[in-house]
Amino acid sequence: MAGMISKSVLDDIRFRCDIVDVIDSYITLPRKGTVIKTLCPFHKEKSPSFSVNRQRQMFHCFGCGAGGDVFKFVMLYEHTDFPGAIQILAEKAGVTLQYEKGAGPSEDKAVLLTINEEASAFYHKCLLQSPDAQPAREYLKKRQINSEVAVDFMIGYAPEKRDFIIDWARQKNYPLAKLELAGLVGKREEDGGSHPYYDRFRGRVMFPIRNEQGRIVGFSGRTLLQDAKTAKYVNSPETPLFRKSHILYALDRARRDIVETREAIICEGQIDVIRCHQAGFKTAVAAQGTAFTEDHARMIKRYADGVVLVFDSDNAGRNAALKASVMFMQAGLAVRVASLPQGEDPDSLILKQGANAFAEALSRAVPAIDFQLNLLLTQEDIRTEIGMMQACKSVLATISQSPNAVQRDVLIQTAARRLGVSAAALQVELRPLLKNQAQREATTPPKPPDSRPSNEVLLTEHLGAAPSLITLLELYLPVTMITDPLCRRLIEALRDSQHNGGDVMQLIAERDDAERSLSCFAAQVLSAPAKTGSDGTHKEAVESLILGFWRAELQRRRGALEQQSQSAADELTRDETMAQASQLTTDLKRLQRWETGESVIRLYI
Ligand code: CTP
Ligand code: MN
Repeated sequence: MAGMISKSVLDDIRFRCDIVDVIDSYITLPRKGTVIKTLCPFHKEKSPSFSVNRQRQMFHCFGCGAGGDVFKFVMLYEHTDFPGAIQILAEKAGVTLQYEKGAGPSEDKAVLLTINEEASAFYHKCLLQSPDAQPAREYLKKRQINSEVAVDFMIGYAPEKRDFIIDWARQKNYPLAKLELAGLVGKREEDGGSHPYYDRFRGRVMFPIRNEQGRIVGFSGRTLLQDAKTAKYVNSPETPLFRKSHILYALDRARRDIVETREAIICEGQIDVIRCHQAGFKTAVAAQGTAFTEDHARMIKRYADGVVLVFDSDNAGRNAALKASVMFMQAGLAVRVASLPQGEDPDSLILKQGANAFAEALSRAVPAIDFQLNLLLTQEDIRTEIGMMQACKSVLATISQSPNAVQRDVLIQTAARRLGVSAAALQVELRPLLKNQAQREATTPPKPPDSRPSNEVLLTEHLGAAPSLITLLELYLPVTMITDPLCRRLIEALRDSQHNGGDVMQLIAERDDAERSLSCFAAQVLSAPAKTGSDGTHKEAVESLILGFWRAELQRRRGALEQQSQSAADELTRDETMAQASQLTTDLKRLQRWETGESVIRLYI
């Protein structure tokens, strides 16, 4: 649950964040007119079907159906939820968020974010200024990480002390329990005495780890020492903010560029990522020292169609690349694997041979299937029957992971060519593997299609275009006859704004849920291409729709009566229900035209 943000603060944010300015800050908009058209940022297209309506403070894409208010745009573009969008827009607008009482867990998160942000600044200041940090400065100098980069990535230093960050927290009046929750301090359970807490990070270069929104959610600390006894990296533990499987280092700064190139560079370590960015490879990200998960793939998929893996050039790196490539392939991403000279990682290669050498390695990256085949061909002797079957089995196991039939076909062609067997034979062997996969997929239900009744949507569209026609509804159609909840809520909002003279978008925004489903629907309906030209024709359309609703209603009633008469015990009841049914038939005929239908409706309403 989101901490409750008071309505007045939301109003304030909405008032200050003009949707045109906000969207313009993400994708440059042509600045003219009340309705601005441009290419949709949410799907690929060649001619613009994305429109921003300044007057209604809404956006809508006729191509992919995305739409809504300013909050919805930020939710979609930043891949965040409603509270996340509020936070981002509040920051843009310079509005301080005040959470109402009983805020619960997200208030906690806000405190932890603040603690992380300030602690990070403190470590950073220490690295740049403190005499204690001299060894760290020398270390970074040796690794050719200059102060510009240190500032850019907010790199810091945690001195070799038990209570460096603890003393800081005391001065700041932050409870140590909160620091523990943030993962910055540990607690000794037994024999803790009066000082059970200790700094988790000691004598380490500190890399703040940011989430997709750029907020610091954790840290990774590298030792300055060479000896094998000290862990090379110490990372934050899993905290309410920090979930390793959900974090990709530098994704916050890489995602804009990834969207442009549609391909992310995936490294193993954060120093590799930093070096890549410094050398101009701005689409580089890394996992946090863990295996790549489905969640990672999903995150990347929002921005990219493919990935290029540049892992360490040793056996461990190659195996990791193999595993990761299958994972990313499963997610439907195109996967390439780059090979670096023996013993190098992106950091060392760029340092020793320059950015061009790295760019060349990237350009020579091969599709994952070729990478696997290269490995297989060194491991198996495909001139022997057993070796060939073994190689085919491995490569098919990979291919079967692809959810895309076209991709599978391409991969099979490649494998067939490289192994010297027929594609048909591989197809045959692939089939049973796919069956298992199909069964697995069958358990996840498909997304339901947009199943709103079209007459209700149409009615809403006409009312949106000519809101004064709401009076017709009030006279002739109870809102309870509208079954779709979103249509009904939108019509109610149109009605209320008509009565109170308030802005309909404002009302909608206030009544919306966290998914912004109402404003999304409103954007779709209110930007629908004009069905008819003038208010007069809107009126005719609404009238004929109202007649339709009533015809359906009377038909339903007649059906019920007919059933009743069939099961009626005595003749009298049967005759009576039959008479009522035939009256309905007469009325139904009169409901064909407005002139005669109007008085019929008055009888039933
Ligand atoms: N890692 C970790 N814990 C370790 C070792 C590594 O969390 N004990 C993670 C770190 O995020 C690290 C990544 O795994 O960045 C890759 O590890 P490695 O290749 O050993 O480190 P490098 O990035 O090459 O670091 P350096 O260049 O500083 O040696
Ligand atoms: Mn390295």
